[in-house]
Parts: sequence; C-alpha cells; structure tokens
Amino acid sequence: MRLEGRVALVTGASKFVGGTIAAFMAREGAKVACNDIVPEIAEATAAYIRSRGSDAIAVPGDITDEATVKAIVKQAVDAFGYVDILVNNAGRQFQRGVLEVEVPEWNEELAIYLSAPMMLSREVSRVMVEKKRRGCILNIISSAGHQGQAGNLAYSTCKGALLNFTRAAAMDLARYGIRVNSITPTSMEHLVYRAETDPRGMVGMVAAVKFQTQHTAVDGHGGVIRFGVIRSSNWGR
Ligand SMILES: NC(=O)c1ccc[n+]([C@@H]2O[C@H](COP(=O)([O-])OP(=O)(O)OC[C@H]3O[C@@H](n4cnc5c(N)ncnc54)[C@H](O)[C@@H]3O)[C@@H](O)[C@H]2O)c1
Repeated sequence: MRLEGRVALVTGASKFVGGTIAAFMAREGAKVACNDIVPEIAEATAAYIRSRGSDAIAVPGDITDEATVKAIVKQAVDAFGYVDILVNNAGRQFQRGVLEVEVPEWNEELAIYLSAPMMLSREVSRVMVEKKRRGCILNIISSAGHQGQAGNLAYSTCKGALLNFTRAAAMDLARYGIRVNSITPTSMEHLVYRAETDPRGMVGMVAAVKFQTQHTAVDGHGGVIRFGVIRSSNWGR
C-alpha cells in the first residue's frame, strides 16, 4: 500500500486509461476523486473502486471551465482534506489534418489538452503549497506528442506542448517538493480495471501495452505508474 494516506484526482476517469490509473492508485491505498464530463462515467469508476473496498468519489464536470475546475478541486479537498496527486488524463480528439481543421474544434482540443491541465495544475499546486504537502502531477501524453501524427493536428500539437508544459511546471514546482512528470501510453488495448487480476500485480493497463516515459526507460505496465506517481515522489519507500 504505497499510497496509503494519499489523495488523488484523476480527470477523464473512463474505464480506459484514467479509470485504470485511478483503480491502481486506489489499490495502493490512495483515496481517489474521479472526474469526467459525463457524470455517469465518473460515478461508474468511483463505484468500481468503492466496490473493491477503497475510498472514491465522483467529481464530475467540464474541466475546460475555470469555475468548474475550482469546484472540482474544492470537492476533492472537502471530501478528503487535500490532494497529493493530480493525473491530467481527460481528452477528446477530432482527428483533423491540416486541410480539414476547423477553428472551433482546434480550440476545443487546446482547451481540453492544454488549458485544463494548466488550470488543474495551478489549483492543485496551490492546495499542496497551502497544506505544505509534497505532491505529484502526472500528465498523460501520446506518441503523437513526441513525433506528430498525420490527420491529428490539434492533438499532436497539444500533446507536444503538454510535454514542455511538464518540464516548465516541474521547474516551477520543484522548490515546493511537487514533482511533475509525464507518461506516454502507446498501443493501448482497451480492457482495463484489471488491477486486481493482473498477475504482475499492476495497473491492468493490459498485457500488450507498451509504454515509454519522458525521462526514464522503465518496464512497461505498472512500471510507468510506479515511476510517475510513486517513485518520483519517494512515496512507498
Ligand atoms: N487509449 C490509448 O490508446 C491512448 C494512447 C495514448 C494516449 N492516450 C491518452 O490517454 C488519455 C485517455 O485516453 P482514453 O483512451 O482512456 O480515452 P477515453 O475517451 O476513454 O477517456 C477520456 C475521458 O475524458 C472525458 N472528457 C472529455 N472532455 C472532458 C472535459 N472537458 N472534462 C472532463 N472530462 C472530459 C471523456 O468523457 C472520456 O471519458 C488521453 O489523454 C489520451 O490522449 C490514450
């Protein structure tokens, strides 16, 4: 239970990437606030975690809206006292290339993949600093953010920018003991919630999954979350 006593907030906590990370952190002892713009999705993941005997609440809402972001963070703090871990995971892709891209969709992707992580990181960091707790922010990138992807201009642009956001935010927040890291899932199989059935005792990000991280080569699967959330914060040692 390497996250005993920790509180995590995960955005876009569907049963795929976000929900899996949420379930893994809960299994490691964290209390988890599960966000999604679709309330039923946030509640389903929170209910799944509770059904496994861990503590979780749903904090639904649109994270592109500043007032909603503040309300989500407040809900998590009101419920659990603080937030130690933020996972910026939510997303929605329109998959347009240069010739098809439309401004409203472009702006929507920028809002979800960039402005939302900025607002959430700011609000959560303020709580961490105020409560004098070290913390951890984990940004979910994509191979498109490292190398680009044809027909997916806004997404590629945002994920590449989020990578550098990670570096800049890490420099800003290091003095407060807040780590900012990113992980890059690739080749996802969509199964999940397999934390309790995975024989490696891990996330359940599924057998065939391959990961790379920004800073470190780690063994796939659980290794990335161990690196991104636990090891990078010296928790669980
Ligand atoms: N699945 C993959 O193969 C893969 C690969 C690389 C990276 N990723 C990244 O992982 C993350 C999650 O992907 P996924 O496959 O689990 O997707 P998903 O669609 O299952 O989950 C994303 C969730 O974000 C929610 N969401 C969208 N807009 C929102 C908003 N404004 N406010 C709050 N919630 C919002 C959606 O409702 C959805 O439930 C994304 O950042 C994606 O880029 C996924």
